[in-house]
Amino acid sequence: MDTIYITTPIYYPNAPPHIGHAYTTIYADVLARYHRLRGRNVFFMTGNDEHGLKLQKAAEEKGVDPKVLVDEMAEVYKKYWRLLDISYDHFIRTTDPKHVEVVKKAVSILYEKGLIYRSRYSGWYCVSCEKFYSEGEYIVKDDKPYCPIHDKPLEWIEEDTYYFKLSVFKDYLIKLLSDSDIVYPRQYAIEILNRVKEEGLRDVSIARPSDRVWWGVEFPFDKNYTVYVWFDALLNYVSGIGYLDDNERFNKYWSNVHHVIGKDILWFHTAIWFSVLKALDIPPPKKLLVHAFLISRGLKIGKSSGNVIAIEDLIERYQDSDGVRYILMRVFNMDKDVEVSTQLFDSIYNSELADTYGNLVRRLGVLAKKKLNGIVYKRSLNDELVKVIDDTREKYLEYMENYEVAQAINTVMDLVREANAYINKVKPWEKKSPDKDLYNLLEALRFATLMLYPIIPKATRKVADSFGFKIEDPEKSSIGSIERYNIIDAPILFRKVRIQ
Ligand code: MSP
Repeated sequence: MDTIYITTPIYYPNAPPHIGHAYTTIYADVLARYHRLRGRNVFFMTGNDEHGLKLQKAAEEKGVDPKVLVDEMAEVYKKYWRLLDISYDHFIRTTDPKHVEVVKKAVSILYEKGLIYRSRYSGWYCVSCEKFYSEGEYIVKDDKPYCPIHDKPLEWIEEDTYYFKLSVFKDYLIKLLSDSDIVYPRQYAIEILNRVKEEGLRDVSIARPSDRVWWGVEFPFDKNYTVYVWFDALLNYVSGIGYLDDNERFNKYWSNVHHVIGKDILWFHTAIWFSVLKALDIPPPKKLLVHAFLISRGLKIGKSSGNVIAIEDLIERYQDSDGVRYILMRVFNMDKDVEVSTQLFDSIYNSELADTYGNLVRRLGVLAKKKLNGIVYKRSLNDELVKVIDDTREKYLEYMENYEVAQAINTVMDLVREANAYINKVKPWEKKSPDKDLYNLLEALRFATLMLYPIIPKATRKVADSFGFKIEDPEKSSIGSIERYNIIDAPILFRKVRIQ
């Protein structure tokens, strides 16, 4: 399909983004850049989740109006995404008037369909998660219920509210999760299926009394309530592409929507979101791509655990966004949590970016300039090397089409390692006219560069500009299609960091 719509979760802007948010956003950006490179029409959206108790409290603590806070923070997030070279097409904010309109209309539609009713609610709430916890879900410490994620005491809340009839969608959800391959990796679909089968699906409260939570979208038919922040937030995925406003645009992008999320928000994006969509007569998303956590000393990295790794520190350490992007994508894992450390990051950066890819670029550039004045004409191809390039490309495309970015990177790096070994074997510096060797090696480097472009866009562009070729779809480009390389520079792309 040539249109693809890619989303990240929208983040709570009560604090600036950290490495965990960068992990999701960079991954989504790599997919977006990859699909653009393949000539597809991509719409890539990220943004901020600006309503709810968490933001209301953050603003109260700072003594500012929540709108002032979220306006400021939207700029902060955009600044970070610029630093990390995130190529989003649209930055959505849940305070955008168009989004607010959609939330109100969606609630009204569900109300008219008889899927919303008023009743009393009581339960244990975690403000950090913006979520109620039932018995068995929370942990107990000193006889008190605690949030299993944030390790903070839960608040007891009892109030009249409006419910969404989630329970009606139990069979639909079970069938969808069992029969479709929407959720990737599949283990996450099974996790939700088991939970729904065991616990059933309880109706969810989708309103909050405005005297407690006033910072939210006003409930359309009862001014005394605001819409529950998660209900509001999930709708960003449809409001951002013109739902209830521009049908044609909405249908075009929705038909191939890929949501990227962390496993912490899996329940909301399956049980709740799939049901809300069904209730609104919207088909389920094409794919829900779920990843595991970055952890440090066994704990999920996050503000609440106090083990945040700052994005700006990483950018400084690895000299620019490409180093950070590469490292995070190289360790990217959808199934398992990844324990991170400076040592791990340093060793990936030094051994792969500096010593492998960077080294190949520098060696080839210097050799071509020294031996051939930077001009390398097309020569006959070495069958063995062509086969390695071709096989790598095939594997890379397969991995990327299957969302497996880390494996795709490893495959490309194998090619780069082969090319470095090839130089050592043929010793072009000892030859009088090493044109053939250099041409073949440059073709290997060119394909590695095209394939690495979505991950390290700045460095690969620099290589393309210095060596005189263009960044294009690796599938469409043929090996041996460059008539002449004109190498004007042999850049040092990545300077090694000193291992701590
Ligand atoms: N606002 C909601 C999402 C609404 S989407 C309709 C929210 N925001 S959040 O700011 O808490 O961001 C959560 C997301 O950040 C996770 O799903 C994940 O993508 C990312 N991560 C935050 N910490 C992370 C790690 N330590 N590791 C990996 N990803 C992490 O939830």
